[in-house]
Amino acid sequence: MRSSTLTKILAVGAASALALTACSSERSTDSAESTTEAESSTETTEGSEVCFGEGATIGVALPQKTSENWVLAEELFNDGLAEAGYEPLVQFANGGVTEQQNQIDSMVQQGAEVIIVGAIDGSQLGGQLQSAKDSGATVIAYDRLVKNTDAVDAYIAFDNYQVGVLQGEALLQGLAERQGEGPYNIELIAGSADDANSIPFFEGAMSVLQPKIDDGTLTVVSGQTTFEQAATQGWKAENAQKRMDTILSGSYSGDTPLHGVLSPNDTLARAALTSVSQAGKDTPVITGQDSEVESVKSIVAGEQYSTIYKDTRELVAQSIASVNALAACEEIPINDTESYDNGVKVVPSYLLEPIIVTQENAAEVYANDSTLAPLTEG
Ligand code: BGC
Repeated sequence: MRSSTLTKILAVGAASALALTACSSERSTDSAESTTEAESSTETTEGSEVCFGEGATIGVALPQKTSENWVLAEELFNDGLAEAGYEPLVQFANGGVTEQQNQIDSMVQQGAEVIIVGAIDGSQLGGQLQSAKDSGATVIAYDRLVKNTDAVDAYIAFDNYQVGVLQGEALLQGLAERQGEGPYNIELIAGSADDANSIPFFEGAMSVLQPKIDDGTLTVVSGQTTFEQAATQGWKAENAQKRMDTILSGSYSGDTPLHGVLSPNDTLARAALTSVSQAGKDTPVITGQDSEVESVKSIVAGEQYSTIYKDTRELVAQSIASVNALAACEEIPINDTESYDNGVKVVPSYLLEPIIVTQENAAEVYANDSTLAPLTEG
């Protein structure tokens, strides 16, 4: 089992501690219910425990840059971890799954104490995360759950199922507000099938929309109602746009109106809107997620109907707070122990609340966001 040599103690409740010694970073891995906890540590002369300290390597494996939130996360992790005294190792895997697997292996080799993972494919990291656990590191799934493995200690995310519920509700609300009385013609877009978030997004939305499809309020004119039919490989805009082009030419010829579109995020919403406008159709009510700059502008201008605010600053801060807890030999803060089953265990989670944003509440929701607030002014 790897031992890490420590230099200093972090300011995580141990600011005045004196002793700076090495301690084993071996941690328990055997409980699905409890959070991670150090098995052995060093006690300082003042009684504060230290499991790892200043200069400890913290790995952050991010996926591809498929939305602005990931780019922001990179910067926030680099700055926040460095500020807390750690050595951040933050990497994107734009080349795909193999690159991400290699990056995690390399983080393990470099002695990372904690590995925070935003998985490209949540089902393909089992081997790498097991090696991480075997080395004594703690594994935290960030934003996206990792599936079918025991080798994950905690999950920190915005509640993905709730994101979908909010999107479904926003679509219904937007249809009633902007498209008059139903019934309404809609289409469904889902995220990438390899991202563990895509199914909870879709299922959350369908929990709201399916009853309205069943009672005839909504008609999916293309007939493409399953997740598999609606999925967008790699979260790529061009894939969503191509699929929408095909649906529009096949199912919306002549004057058939498209009243609404369920889109799982902003990038795909804008792609769908491009397709609709190229087909010469009126703008449908369309949902989104991520509060990307272009989409917030579009919402303020009355085009895209809604987005979701998942403040990346909060998510990264919660992740760094967990690293600090581990450094002080404490448990990772958890507020949910039943929602996210990864196929092998229910992963103890810290879930943050997503917020729905429309033209009506944008200024209020973004009031404390220095990038987005100015977009809502005037
Ligand atoms: C994230 C979304 C994002 C999508 C594509 C998902 O896992 O939760 O916020 O839009 O990935 O990047």
